[in-house]
Amino acid sequence: MFITFEGPEGSGKSSQIALLADWLRPMKQDVLLTREPGGTAIGDRVRAILLDPACTEMEDAAEVLLYSAARAQHVGQVIRPHLARGGVVLCDRYADSTLAYQGYGRGLDLATLAVITAFATGGLRPDLVVFLDIDVAAGLRRKQLHADEDASQWNRFERETLAYHQRVRAGYLQMAAAEPGRWLLVDAAQSVEKVQAAVRQRVGAALGLSSPVGRDE
Ligand code: TYD
Repeated sequence: MFITFEGPEGSGKSSQIALLADWLRPMKQDVLLTREPGGTAIGDRVRAILLDPACTEMEDAAEVLLYSAARAQHVGQVIRPHLARGGVVLCDRYADSTLAYQGYGRGLDLATLAVITAFATGGLRPDLVVFLDIDVAAGLRRKQLHADEDASQWNRFERETLAYHQRVRAGYLQMAAAEPGRWLLVDAAQSVEKVQAAVRQRVGAALGLSSPVGRDE
């Protein structure tokens, strides 16, 4: 099973994905926790270019192709082999981030992005997309709090305008509405525990796990 986590900045994806992995692992699920851009040595080098605040002159097309290059490496080297072994892959961002940020956010043609993405991934799509939805201003405030402690958290994207991030969020909501069977929409303004309970319920059901939701909370 291939599960991706998506959301605007500051939606709490990384904490939620880690909590989900903690819950799944004792149940003998072969869980791989990974992220984009990155997840491989080559992908991490591409990530450094993509997130460097000094790379302001990057062309939109170059941005898309760099994300896609990192993704192609990630899918071929890490994700597909793990799925082939029967494992569960939890991925922090994937192709829907390209549609949201480069498509809805930057205004690039969605059909073109879909073709590039299909080429990069060989057509691999997630079984479930967990979308952690949060008001854009609230999410950026959350992220700013962390950035004050760790400057590396503040990347090229968080410098974009509020309007850009609002387009990204609206894009996500549109994609979620178009495929409700594949997307789980969770209100990320709720407590960490409530968000995690909603995620565990859906993932547990999809994996056929009998454990009650949030049993260790
Ligand atoms: P990261 O520091 O991982 O942020 P987050 O914690 O929000 O996931 O940086 C990833 C950034 O890259 C994030 O701002 C979203 C952006 N992004 C795209 O624009 N397109 C993509 O295809 C992906 C995977 C990420």
